[in-house]
Amino acid sequence: MKKFSLLLLTLWSPALFAQFTPGEIWPDNNGRHINAHGGGILYRNGTYYWYGEIKGTHSTAEVGVSVYSSKDLYSWKDEGVALQVSGDPASEITKGCVIERPKVIYNTKTKKYVMWFHLELKGQGYNAARTALAVSDSPTGPFEYQKSLRPNPGIWPQNFREEWKKPVPGEDTLKWWTPGWYKAVKEGLFVRRDLKGGQMARDMTLYVDDDGTAYHIYSAEDNLTLNIAELSSDYQRFTGKYITLAPAGHNEAPAVFKQDGWYYLITSGCTGWDPNAARSFRARSVLGPWEALKNPCVGEGAGLTFHSQSTFILPVAGKKNAFIFMADRWKPRNHIDGRYIWLPVKVVNGQPVIEWKDKWDLSVFD
Ligand code: DGJ
Repeated sequence: MKKFSLLLLTLWSPALFAQFTPGEIWPDNNGRHINAHGGGILYRNGTYYWYGEIKGTHSTAEVGVSVYSSKDLYSWKDEGVALQVSGDPASEITKGCVIERPKVIYNTKTKKYVMWFHLELKGQGYNAARTALAVSDSPTGPFEYQKSLRPNPGIWPQNFREEWKKPVPGEDTLKWWTPGWYKAVKEGLFVRRDLKGGQMARDMTLYVDDDGTAYHIYSAEDNLTLNIAELSSDYQRFTGKYITLAPAGHNEAPAVFKQDGWYYLITSGCTGWDPNAARSFRARSVLGPWEALKNPCVGEGAGLTFHSQSTFILPVAGKKNAFIFMADRWKPRNHIDGRYIWLPVKVVNGQPVIEWKDKWDLSVFD
């Protein structure tokens, strides 16, 4: 008997029982459900850092952006608040603003951790539609708030036709959602409208390409069109090089990965906090052209992305073609209870495919 329990003890290791349980409560090292919604993960020096929105009951930012660390992706240590909202009512990130979908990348030249996030100014609903920057010397922060902006004022997208640069008489009076209006949006109606002040920037992600160039991917034009914009070599400015993707296609929640020379993009439609069917695209270059593919989700629940919305696609360190689709199951009546849906995403004949699993672990990639 004694021998038997000794054997059990030596066989037991947390990793042996470690698994992902999409949609369940995910406790951190303190036993509290992880509070990192709309998140993204940075892998650096053997550690994964998960950044996300700290939610309370409501969706506004009362605390800021959280950071958790993990070596194995199963057990997460609460590293505290990476970016704190301000107590100063004059600050752009004053308590009660909206901070969504924070993403962090590391810049090898400046040795800075660079966070961009979607910012809505307090009391203005979703009208500000700005992207905001915070920077830190350490992955766990504190991140220091720098600025917010609407990207690329005065600059046309690279894939914008010459003939679309001139306003079309009467375009401002077109009725929304009519065929004529859709055509006008596809032909740059809102790019022209927002040209002077910069394009709107709401749901977002960041992607660092193999050559170190970083791209900021965001929902512009009242969420009707995605923009993919190049960042400067320090990742803290927009260079002016950008494209529009799927104009009038109504995409949110962008998440990117690269496999076998193809860039894949997974997005959602736009239905507020409610789930909808995911979409996917692929391209040979980040700046396009992008080709629309199918809903990457298959099987029961695929029509609503298994009741979730994409936020990030994580390459698993040390494994080839191993990607985790990370999504949020929002709980708009009590945001802090929002759940995480992590599922493996694989590419089958050029199409990303995601299937539901109640429980799984990293051995699916072996
Ligand atoms: C959907 C977005 O993806 C979320 O990040 C959030 O902005 C909600 N809409 C707000 O309704």
